[in-house]
Amino acid sequence: MRLEVKNLAKRFTIHTRGGVEIEGFSNISFSVKKGSFLSLRGSSGSGKSSVLKTIYRSYLPSGGAICLHTDEGSYDLAKVSDSAMLEIRERYIGYVSQFLQVLPRIGAVDIVATPLVQKGESEAVAKQKAREMLDFFGIKEELFSLSPLTFSGGEQQRVNIAKGIIAPKMLLLLDEPTASLDATNRKKVLEKLHTLKNEGVSMIGIFHDKASMEEISNEIYDIQG
Ligand SMILES: Nc1ncnc2c1ncn2[C@@H]1O[C@H](COP(=O)(O)OP(=O)(O)O)[C@@H](O)[C@H]1O
Ligand SMILES: [Mg+2]
Repeated sequence: MRLEVKNLAKRFTIHTRGGVEIEGFSNISFSVKKGSFLSLRGSSGSGKSSVLKTIYRSYLPSGGAICLHTDEGSYDLAKVSDSAMLEIRERYIGYVSQFLQVLPRIGAVDIVATPLVQKGESEAVAKQKAREMLDFFGIKEELFSLSPLTFSGGEQQRVNIAKGIIAPKMLLLLDEPTASLDATNRKKVLEKLHTLKNEGVSMIGIFHDKASMEEISNEIYDIQG
């Protein structure tokens, strides 16, 4: 087992509203094996994105455990320190957010190449691989050196996925990675995700399109809203 989530819960305390409490989610338990894809399913607002953000520790859980088992040891992501969590993220966990978040004035190729450079790849090789990945996802070459902040929604999403999968780690979290894509590009993303599965990457994903979810998932976990 790679990841075991046990009785995970998150309540939000809104301090600017006199400490009113909002239920994010509660009682979430599932596990993910090596090379397996688990999808989270539930109505809008049921807490799907928050579960991913809690596993990535952008949100601190209110209760429960998140056990990540690696070759170097096991960690409860609900309990490790912030600095340990940063290291765990860097080594083991990728996260493709719903929307691309990048600094201005950095070109698409450089953005996609960065995770490879961080992993120790030379800049020339990293950029070449980034160009190939962008080309695979149908991004026009004339856009490669431009900042994706002015790209269309679908183009931004493809840059975001390229950046998220070019240097895969053992666990990948995907929040609606195909939401603004047409059928052709959706197929290409699913093809890449299948490759990652075969390479042993474990994934947790959220899809708003049922066909994609059923095509890629080994397991579907229902969240009650
Ligand atoms: N940072 C936050 N602060 C307060 N409430 C939040 C925050 N993030 C999410 N929520 C609330 O938690 C619930 C679940 O949200 P979310 O995880 O985005 O749902 P989903 O992805 O399933 O649509 C919603 O009621 C939402 O308003
Ligand atoms: Mg969401």
